[in-house]
Formats: sequence, C-alpha cells, structure tokens
Amino acid sequence: MEPIRVGLLGLGVVGGGTFKVLARNAEEIARRAGRHIVATKVSARDVAKAKSRVGEAAEVVADPFQIVRDPEIDIVVELIGGDTLARELVLEAIAHGKHVVTANKALLAKHGNEIFARASEQGVMVAFEAAVAGGIPIIKAIREGLSANQIEWVAGIINGTTNFILTEMRARGLPFSEVLAEAQRLGYAEADPTFDIEGVDAAHKLTLLSSIAFGVPIRFDKAHIEGISQLAQEDIRYAEELGYRIKLLGITKARPEGIELRVHPTLIAAQRVMANVEGAMNAVMVKGDAVGATLYYGQGAGEEPTASAVVADLVDVTRLHTADPEHRVPHLAFQPDAITDRPM
Ligand code: HSE
Repeated sequence: MEPIRVGLLGLGVVGGGTFKVLARNAEEIARRAGRHIVATKVSARDVAKAKSRVGEAAEVVADPFQIVRDPEIDIVVELIGGDTLARELVLEAIAHGKHVVTANKALLAKHGNEIFARASEQGVMVAFEAAVAGGIPIIKAIREGLSANQIEWVAGIINGTTNFILTEMRARGLPFSEVLAEAQRLGYAEADPTFDIEGVDAAHKLTLLSSIAFGVPIRFDKAHIEGISQLAQEDIRYAEELGYRIKLLGITKARPEGIELRVHPTLIAAQRVMANVEGAMNAVMVKGDAVGATLYYGQGAGEEPTASAVVADLVDVTRLHTADPEHRVPHLAFQPDAITDRPM
C-alpha cells in the first residue's frame, strides 16, 4: 500500500522531533497505522538549515502554502505556532481536503470552533493531542478511555515551564529570571514566554480539555487566568514552612451554574501526588462519575515527548483515513502477517 504523505509546517523543536521519531520508529509506526507514514515535504524559514537536518529524506520549501495546496500531501502537520498565519494555513489545508495535526493550543483556543466546523464540513480530521500536556495522551484518555463517564472535573499541571520555574525556585533557591532562561534554553518555553508565566498557555490547554470533557464549545474568553509572575521566593518558602507547595493549576469543573475554567497558583499539601510533580513534568487528574479519580503523568514539553503525541495523531488519522477494511488495523495493532518473532 502507498505510504501516507505528510507535510510538516515548521522544523523547530517539535518539527525536528517529529521528523526524527517518524524515521527512527518507521516500522513500529507502520505496523500500528497499517501503512508507512512518511514526511515528504517540510517548510522552514531557514531552508538551508532545514536541508542540513533532513538531508535527502524530504523536500524543503520556504513557502508553507506550497505544502497545504500540494495534491500529493495527505496530512498537514502545523507546527509553526501563533494564530494568524497558522490559522490561514490550517483553513487552507482543510479547504484542500487535507487532514490536519497540530500542536498549536493558542490557535485552537482562539479559532478552534471555526476550524473544527470547517473540518466537519469538509469531512477531514483535525487532531491535536500534542497541544495539551505534551507527551501525555490526555485528549485520547478523556475522549476515548473515559467516554462512558460524566466528567465531574479536570485539574492539572499543564505548563512545564512554570512547573520547572516553581520547582527550581523551591529546590535550589534560584531566581525566577535565571530559571526562565534555562527553560527557554531547554526548549520548554513558548516563543513569547509571557504566555507561560502569566498562565495563558495553561488556559489555552485547559479550554481544550474542558471542551473535550464537557462537550462545550471552546470558550477561552471565559477563563480566569492568573500566572506566577507575582510570586516571590518568600511565598514559596512560607508555603513550604506550612507544609504546602505552590503549583500552577488549571481547573475545569461542571457546576450547576455552568462550566468553571480557572488557572492560578494553588497551595497543595506537600504529601499529595500533585505537589510532587517536579520540573517540566505535567500531571492531569480527571474525575469521572463511573471511574472515580484518575491520574496521568508525563513530560509536558520538549522535542520528542511532544513529537510522540504528534506521531500518535498521525497514526490515528492514518487508520481512519484508510477506509479500506482490509487494511484497517485491528485493536491489538498488528496485522496478522506482521507478527514479529520477538521472544516471549
Ligand atoms: N510552553 C509549554 C510548556 C510547551 O511549558 O508547557 C508545551 O506546551
């Protein structure tokens, strides 16, 4: 069967990671998707630099519209960030009948209702696992794993940069600005890090989680948002003395009067699991009426953890795109003729 051809918009931290994971795990991914998934075309601002990274494996172009309009491309992966050019590109890709995978929470928090409506009209998918909590499959967990439940609330540490800053300030007494610079160096922070430290990035993600959990439209304008920029070293120290840690939580709850959406620094008793989520790690708790409380933990930012979620979406979209029942992948994710001889 022909491979699925992917066009990558952007070859930054996550784009580079996606390219690497697709190449390194090509056979595993093909076994799970039922077809090979190949990044055949990449757009990047610095074409020469991108060429030096992808070699002969993909064509590199400067103009991302060349990818979204290319009839040879099946799935467009949007990783350029921002909500202006990214919106145009995603809408254009949808108009050209392409499925879209995106890690862009800012785009979806602002324009998601429009984008999903257009995708439904065109009968294409827009998948966004990588937009929330990096490598943790939290969208799939809520949408698929907990689909039997009435969700009561979702609460989580969903911004790695601020969790890294709070952890380093507490554990090593380092100043805010120094730790932020380190988070930027490690590739955790947004292009505009005020989105991280003012809680905006967490609110973008929370809005998406809320929409999935409660089946409501995306309403970023309804979120109460407070970040960590006003926190001083003393706040963290006093909290510690009282047996608490400060974490930036995103919380969404179904209340009789409506859906609550809030992001703010929260005191959590030091012995609680959430208080011990350190560094750039993320953790999300989801309470369902049937299942009770569940917890999801993992790397919320960074090159390959986020690429892991992008590629998982590519696998999902490929499975659904492959309507031919003969090639549909069964639940255990192997084709009978692809069973390996791994020792058991
Ligand atoms: N800036 C984000 C964070 C990146 O720190 O969590 C992952 O969404």
